Amino acid sequence: MVLSTVVVPPGAAASDMAALLGEPAAALRRGGLVAFPTETVYGLGADATNAQAVERIFLAKGRPADNPLIVHIPDVAWLPRVVAATTPLARRLAEAFWPGPLTLVLEAHPDLPPVTTGGLATVAVRVPSDPLARWLIELADVPVAAPSANLSGRPSPTTAAHVAADLGSRIDWIVDGGPSTLGIESTVVDARGASPVMLREGGVTREDLAQIAEAGDVVDPVAAGVARSPGTAHAHYQPLATVVITDVGGSVAAANRLTDRQRVGLLGPDTDGLDPRVRVLGTPVGAAEVGVVLYGALRTADEEGLAAVVVEAVADEGLGRAVMDRLRRAAGQTDAPT
Ligand code: TXA
Ligand code: MG
Repeated sequence: MVLSTVVVPPGAAASDMAALLGEPAAALRRGGLVAFPTETVYGLGADATNAQAVERIFLAKGRPADNPLIVHIPDVAWLPRVVAATTPLARRLAEAFWPGPLTLVLEAHPDLPPVTTGGLATVAVRVPSDPLARWLIELADVPVAAPSANLSGRPSPTTAAHVAADLGSRIDWIVDGGPSTLGIESTVVDARGASPVMLREGGVTREDLAQIAEAGDVVDPVAAGVARSPGTAHAHYQPLATVVITDVGGSVAAANRLTDRQRVGLLGPDTDGLDPRVRVLGTPVGAAEVGVVLYGALRTADEEGLAAVVVEAVADEGLGRAVMDRLRRAAGQTDAPT
């Protein structure tokens, strides 16, 4: 397959979108695979209503067939195209957080092919906030099923270069809109009941959700008696390097200790007193900054053959919950809460 790329410059005008995105949008309509930017991570899109097109996503990624996809729409007004029924809770959450990094699980529209929903009676749906994603879907005029645009088992891509490295020969188009601004995937919430059920931590925090959910708290899947997102049970990215998570303030000492014996990378807020042999992969401060650079740093660690990566923990609250969830998974702590 020959890959085409369109680079959309920052600040491109709305009036340019049809010219820039017309060809990838037409490819989507024809059943093609188009990678595109979102505020969370890059997605690998196909027409959600076209079973053959969606099957190609699973083939390209090597993704297990029982792991359903998120359907992306440009506007809440499209919701009736993909769900059979909405709920007061879903309407409140959509009003508060769309466009944005929140995915709602609702009863699926009966016309959606089973390959899109993993054969479930529900569908996951979101309106991304990156305007390029919304323009692309609007122009294609079909709801777009899109998992993260990585090979299954690799970290989610936050740049077009990450997508090309994993999938370049297997897809039709990449829309390059620059790096993702959040770097961590969307929050997945079951919104069929009175309270939101947290299926996957992500860019919209529990604290954000609790403020909007009238019926009070965010509920855990076990308490609600619903299954977690199928994807949270699958093995997640673990770099070849050993990931060492340290307490706040402990990363420099830990990296210095390890560097005598092996090649070590560091992802932590400061480098005061750091052994010069340690490869600094980034100096993010706080959960939001760690989220932006985490997946790219793990890719770099493997490209450079590092034996260990020391990552300093962030507080397990707010966006920090999602960041620590991904970090624990990268460290192989697979029983980590989702
Ligand atoms: O930020 C994101 O969510 C990115 C961008 C591209 O939108 N997408 C993404 O997709 O992370 P993916 O496929 O890597 O993760 C989708 C998650 C999986 O854990 C999957 O099991 C869950 O959503 N999911 C999809 N449909 C579901 C459903 N009907 N019920 C429960 N969980 C579902
Ligand atoms: Mg993924």
